[in-house]
Amino acid sequence: MALRNILTLPDETLTKKSKEVISFDDKLWVLLDDMYDTLQKHEGVGIAAVQVGILRRVIVIDTGEDEDGVIELINPEIIQTEGTQREMEGCLSCPDMWGYVKRPEYIKVKYMNRYGKPQTKEAEELLAIVISHEIDHLNGVVFPDVADEMVDEKEAEAERERKPHRKKKRRVRE
Ligand code: CO
Repeated sequence: MALRNILTLPDETLTKKSKEVISFDDKLWVLLDDMYDTLQKHEGVGIAAVQVGILRRVIVIDTGEDEDGVIELINPEIIQTEGTQREMEGCLSCPDMWGYVKRPEYIKVKYMNRYGKPQTKEAEELLAIVISHEIDHLNGVVFPDVADEMVDEKEAEAERERKPHRKKKRRVRE
């Protein structure tokens, strides 16, 4: 198990665009494993490689919901969206910041797995939010850039109480 340091605002690396992965090798697998360990340690639901200072298009997600499992997305691309949802978000790179963001209710994403094999996945609700949030990171966008309203800790806590299905993880941070 190896933990990586998480970059936080205003680190300007977080504003940079990540590059495509071209080598699906040991170095990538170590990065993915380290990102997973780091995500677990910080009780987050998703992490992009840029958040640990690696400007590559790599995402690890674990929503804590059994049916989703652990999801690794390399070079992801959203190919279809439907509807909108507006939920409160947080981010491991934006400590103590919470805000509402409009995202698609449904997305279809194509990506590669850790062996370079092309995959597609459909996602709704929380998983659609997390995937959209992480893909934003790959493009140098953090959620306060796209939030339509930021809220304080007290209001964030009240919102979590209203959303009991999201309490498996104490705080949903992507
Ligand atoms: Co984030």
